[in-house]
Amino acid sequence: MTSIVSGFSKLSKEDKINWMVAHHFDNDQKTINVLKTYWNSDQALQQLHDEFAENTISNYYLPFSIAPNFLINGNRYTIPMAIEESSVVAAASKAAKFWQDRGGFTTKVESMVKVGQVHFSYNGNPEKLKTFFKDVKSKIISSAAHLSKNMEKRGGGIKDIELRDKTSEMKHYYQLHCTFGTADAMGANFINSCLEHFAKQLTILATNYIGFSNEEKNLEIIMSILSNYVPECIATASVSCPVTDLPNTKQLSATQYAEKFIKAVQIAKIEPYRAVTHNKGIMNGIDAVVLATGNDFRAIEAGAHAYASRKGSYSSLTNATITNDVFSFSIKIPLALGTVGGLTSLHPLVKLALQLLGNPNAEKLMEITAVAGLAQNFAAINSLITSGIQQGHMKMHLMNILNQLKATNSEKKQLIEYFKTNAVTHSEVVVQIEKLRQ
Ligand code: MEV
Repeated sequence: MTSIVSGFSKLSKEDKINWMVAHHFDNDQKTINVLKTYWNSDQALQQLHDEFAENTISNYYLPFSIAPNFLINGNRYTIPMAIEESSVVAAASKAAKFWQDRGGFTTKVESMVKVGQVHFSYNGNPEKLKTFFKDVKSKIISSAAHLSKNMEKRGGGIKDIELRDKTSEMKHYYQLHCTFGTADAMGANFINSCLEHFAKQLTILATNYIGFSNEEKNLEIIMSILSNYVPECIATASVSCPVTDLPNTKQLSATQYAEKFIKAVQIAKIEPYRAVTHNKGIMNGIDAVVLATGNDFRAIEAGAHAYASRKGSYSSLTNATITNDVFSFSIKIPLALGTVGGLTSLHPLVKLALQLLGNPNAEKLMEITAVAGLAQNFAAINSLITSGIQQGHMKMHLMNILNQLKATNSEKKQLIEYFKTNAVTHSEVVVQIEKLRQ
């Protein structure tokens, strides 16, 4: 067993690596070489990455890809995507191409309200707490003016603070449920600073409130933190076309295609096992854009899945209908994204990604990201109800198999050609590569 190390974060990068290799890799030099292969020769760039997080010993690459041909509200976009799953970018591009000839995507941001809460315990008369809150609410808000001043200049700020009585769910539990506008920032630091300030003010004002007994004055702040559940920070995206413009094949007429598509979405609405995979496919597109643009994909994931459960059971984030022979497909998703602050001005590839999108504001980025999710879902359902998912997936996965088998460039070229007309399976790739090598 490895002995406990203290003061690890203060060691130099080399010493951290030496420690790890000594304790976990039998001092294997090859391990050090692997880590160093990923170091950037540009020292300043490497230092920038080292300083993003603690105990950084190397860089972890993900493919940075682009999906062209997205027509969104009449404007053309090439969407940056950071993702390792081989078929995702191809699927997005295919969906973009399909819909660009059918009017493209229409998007809208419904609202951009962010939420944070001060959770506290109050053992006393609820009516007195309500009166106290009425008396001090404006004081609490105005006392944070020094924190909200800059955000207000940018069009954001503190929107409201509500006292919420949660004692029916947990003894003595109350909240300050606070709403914020954070303009083009994701706003986590702004919100958390405001909340911690509100909590302090709440304690001070309660202590000095003459209407409270000694016990009531002693309300206990449990924690102050933003919520990643943002059901009022919503982007929508949709596509529509006459049913007759949908794929029409020997196996499925356009009408049959539309009806099958709708059934597939309906299943994801009512069946959580399917809904999770359906939404996972949506998040393939969403996360890839969120990562490429330097946003927090864990926050987006958590918020999206909570939203998908808002009606009491986990359900689809997309919807499909046929009305008057017009097929429509749409997504509604919470996306608390930022285009300023965080990594957006630090990470060179994030800057480039935002530039590629025309340096959008947060609202526009929410719209573009929602489109990426809808496109991904369209591509997945399209495959699922026609050829099945494996045909495309295995084609895209072929390169991974070839790399596992250490195929040379010439072997790759020949086998990619061969598998254009033959089904890809791992064993068949092995057979074919062995044939070439004989
Ligand atoms: C794979 O990453 C995503 C899919 O499974 C999504 C879906 O089933 O809708 C293809």
